[in-house]
Amino acid sequence: MNPASDERQMSPSFDQPRQDLPRHVGIIMDGNGRWASARSLPRLEGHRRGVEAVRRTVRAASELGVSYLTLYAFSSENWSRPQQEIMDLMGLLKRFIRKDLADLHKQNVRVRVIGAREGLAPDLCSLLDEAQDLTADNTGLTLVIAFNYGGRQEIAQAARTLALRAMKGEIDPASIDPDAISAALYTAEFPDPDLIIRTSGEQRLSNFLMWQAAYAELVFLPIHWPDFDHAALEAALAQYASRERRFGGLVTRDVMTAS
Ligand code: IPE
Ligand code: IPE
Ligand code: MG
Repeated sequence: MNPASDERQMSPSFDQPRQDLPRHVGIIMDGNGRWASARSLPRLEGHRRGVEAVRRTVRAASELGVSYLTLYAFSSENWSRPQQEIMDLMGLLKRFIRKDLADLHKQNVRVRVIGAREGLAPDLCSLLDEAQDLTADNTGLTLVIAFNYGGRQEIAQAARTLALRAMKGEIDPASIDPDAISAALYTAEFPDPDLIIRTSGEQRLSNFLMWQAAYAELVFLPIHWPDFDHAALEAALAQYASRERRFGGLVTRDVMTAS
């Protein structure tokens, strides 16, 4: 083994070939509360530190060449939390956009928001619109914020849209295939996620990108979200690079031995 390939083995993200790099990374940012409890701090402090991890991750994703980063920030089911925590999470998103929008714009980040607007305060909705409008023409990382987002709700909404169009005679029900459903989701303009990372050790999707994740590689990290950083993203990308994606087919090696 020559020294160059040895070095690559020890550091899989070194000189990474582009096909080993996920184009779209989704992150289930979990563990803020447990991070805080472990330090005898209020849960809010965990969420605050979680926002700092978001800042680091956006930079890291850009630096590492990821094109789309979807961050799960508030689920449709998170409404079942105490009212105060819900208000804290809404407040943190508002503050994040107010404080960071100019900087995101400077970083050439394009901000998109997915999820339902129902239940969100008008001033928050205006801020979300402002963030999307200001950065619409940016050509760097697309940062997708999943807020008040639920995968099942999104699919149900797509079904309603398509049913209405069929009722109006605009589409033939027989033409409704997976592509038609994908095109009716919030995420129509984005490629499916290649890699989904969840922090905090939980191993479930919790209603995140249920349709889009059909062939995503899943990486579960034991660290809590406030501890996530460039190195953690790099480690997840290295795991991704070592996976063999098959999409139901055979890899070249197996095709050769199939006959
Ligand atoms: C993730 O951290 C943030 C949101 C879900 C909004 P949690 O608040 O779920 O933290 P844990 O899971 O209770 O530790
Ligand atoms: C998933 O985390 C939602 C977000 C990260 C926004 P939760 O903490 O809400 O998920 P469960 O309840 O543990 O499945
Ligand atoms: Mg959680």
